[in-house]
Amino acid sequence: MLKNTFSAILIIGLVMVGSSAIMAKGDDISNKVEDLISRMTLEEKVGQLQQYSTRWEMTGPVPDGKVAQEMHKNIKDGLAGSMLNIAGAEATRKAQEMAVNNSRLGIPMIFGYDVVHGYKTIFPIPLAAAASWDVEAVKTSARVAAKEAAADGLHWTFAPMVDISRDARWGRVMEGAGEDPYLGSVMAKAQVEGFQGGDLTDETTIAACAKHFAAYGFVEGGRDYNIADIGESTLRNVVLPPCKACSDAGVATFMNSFNEVDGIPATGNAHLLRDILKGEWGFDGFVVSDWASIDEMRFHGVAANKSEAALLAITAGSDMDMEGHCYFPNLIGMVEKGEVDEALIDDAVRRILTIKFRLGLFDDPYRYCNQNVEEVFLSAEHLEKARDVARKSIVLLKNENQLLPLSKENKKIAVIGDLADDKDTPLGNWRGRGGRNMAVSLLEGLQNAVENKSLVTFEQGPVFAENLPQFGTLVQINETDRTGLTEAVEAAKDADVVVLALGENCFQSGEARSQSEIGLKGLQQELLEAVCAVNKNVVVVLMNGRPMAISWMAEHVSAIVESWHLGSEAGNAIADVLFGDYNPSGKLPMSFPRTVGQCPIYYNHKNTGRPAENEEDYMFTTRYVDEKVSPLFSFGYGLSYTTFDYSGLELSNRDITKGDTLKVAVNLKNTGEMDGTEVVQLYIRDLVGSVTRPVKELKNFKKVFLKSGETKKIEFELTVEDLTFYSKKGVWEAEPGEFHLWVGTNSSEGLQSQFYLK
Ligand code: BGC
Repeated sequence: MLKNTFSAILIIGLVMVGSSAIMAKGDDISNKVEDLISRMTLEEKVGQLQQYSTRWEMTGPVPDGKVAQEMHKNIKDGLAGSMLNIAGAEATRKAQEMAVNNSRLGIPMIFGYDVVHGYKTIFPIPLAAAASWDVEAVKTSARVAAKEAAADGLHWTFAPMVDISRDARWGRVMEGAGEDPYLGSVMAKAQVEGFQGGDLTDETTIAACAKHFAAYGFVEGGRDYNIADIGESTLRNVVLPPCKACSDAGVATFMNSFNEVDGIPATGNAHLLRDILKGEWGFDGFVVSDWASIDEMRFHGVAANKSEAALLAITAGSDMDMEGHCYFPNLIGMVEKGEVDEALIDDAVRRILTIKFRLGLFDDPYRYCNQNVEEVFLSAEHLEKARDVARKSIVLLKNENQLLPLSKENKKIAVIGDLADDKDTPLGNWRGRGGRNMAVSLLEGLQNAVENKSLVTFEQGPVFAENLPQFGTLVQINETDRTGLTEAVEAAKDADVVVLALGENCFQSGEARSQSEIGLKGLQQELLEAVCAVNKNVVVVLMNGRPMAISWMAEHVSAIVESWHLGSEAGNAIADVLFGDYNPSGKLPMSFPRTVGQCPIYYNHKNTGRPAENEEDYMFTTRYVDEKVSPLFSFGYGLSYTTFDYSGLELSNRDITKGDTLKVAVNLKNTGEMDGTEVVQLYIRDLVGSVTRPVKELKNFKKVFLKSGETKKIEFELTVEDLTFYSKKGVWEAEPGEFHLWVGTNSSEGLQSQFYLK
């Protein structure tokens, strides 16, 4: 019955697209794959579509003992294609031996793991790394993570997460690159290149997985696992570009998402998976479901049982079942009864085997279990790279009266706050196999940096949160115990400058960590106000996995340093910035709201029929009556210890036509005392379109280093291709008309010009 709802044409089409895309590679992998498929039984084929988790580190319902027994039997019988959450050269070797030595065809398994921002050496969370606007830095993070993961027997990471997110309430914003499709695409590509390198058979590279396909970042109300209710224009123009960038960069796999998109769960969404991903983009890797997302289609209410869920998912193009236990064994019987076309199974198996061949697993199934991890894990080189990426990820939000950088001599620095000596929080959520309490804390970083250690004192203040919450439990935040508050205030009184650590525990953001309030929690606001009452020189170091609503802080403290969750070397990197050994250059990849009620808030919004031009505007415009419409800190914002002046914006032409390249030039001068790096940002606005267009869109950026007093001419090239969008006709095209263009230091400031596309 369900089967009839999918057209035979689609099925024939998809098999052709799938196989022809692979065959077109012209290598002998496709011949080997076809040969293997021809020797596989139906049961073995369906077994390849099954992915099992080990029984630890899980993010969904735990399989019971029966499932574990079934898993072992199936691995031996060659009926398991993959495992996740298994790691370690020894463990992976054992599991691989189980599959290869016992099964009829000896097909190796592929081992996946969430290697999101480091494996042992932990790098900044992806949102932070995106704040570096530094492609090489982001690539390096992924490269090092891949080296360490591969040395530990892993073949495949479930990263990058490329979900565009506009709502800071969503806990998973920490895993992505923020709100902008252009920056998101650049960062997505850099991560794929970093993880995969140029050659998947290289023992130091791993297959990447672009996730979540699609629109998971648009969960309603920022509530995890909720529905996403967006139309085709937002899907194509905002959500999909980073996914497309991954596909173009040759990402090996995609993961679908938990959410529905306009009534159809992404896992069973043929439009997303068949039409767009595998059809229009010609993606020839495989799609893994998210954890149990095939089975969850029963709860979405589109499948009555596991078999119906399996049919929906396989038909739509989900190739591997992660812990849903729907495909195996249900699809076997369904093919036998004629309810599922075997060509669908072959298509999925073909894709999975192809990636296994590309990884070289058929040449040596143990190739990733042979390295000396001691030489690779947490090496001095990796830690140095982690420190470098970390300091590039820091964003200076405020610096009144040049309180920063701090002097390393003769000034008494009171370091205050529970997070300041927390060695775990900087590692962030999704920290691979980074051990607990392994980060350099802020306090340690500051002490490492000064010769006279007695200048840096520490008061914890009230406990903020339980330091090490158990996996899968909520962070317990202290709301009542004020022990330590008086001592903290005394220390603040006595100091020349206070460095106050505030923000979020590492497990306040991440999966299943959505929040309805995103301000300071617990007793942090009270501590902040008490400290500010006795000392005017307060530097807040924020540690957090999402934009926070910090209006009071922004008004009352002299300096705010956004340090996110920066990884293993956090404290050293923050000290580099606080003492001016590194001049901060990060820029926000996500807008900071004034209050949570402004969420979702993003710079590239639409104009609407009643735009609110300014905060005091006419009442019947798109504004709040009790709050401004602008963010507290906008996308692209971030200060430096020096100042930059933009002048002389020039366009090579006022009119351009198809095939032309518009040259844009601006003079950038470092007008301050220190050498520094600026991220020069280019935005456009397409004034009239067949569908409404954003008020601004980032189209390019350049990171430029200038010595104090130096001027450079910064040049960009804009092609007509850069002006294209998914139009009313349902195609990517640039429409003629007037465009505005800005070049500047963030999304709300810049020199402006205009041009016409004829
Ligand atoms: C998450 C995925 C992750 C998977 C495996 C799911 O809950 O949504 O992003 O890759 O678990 O750990």
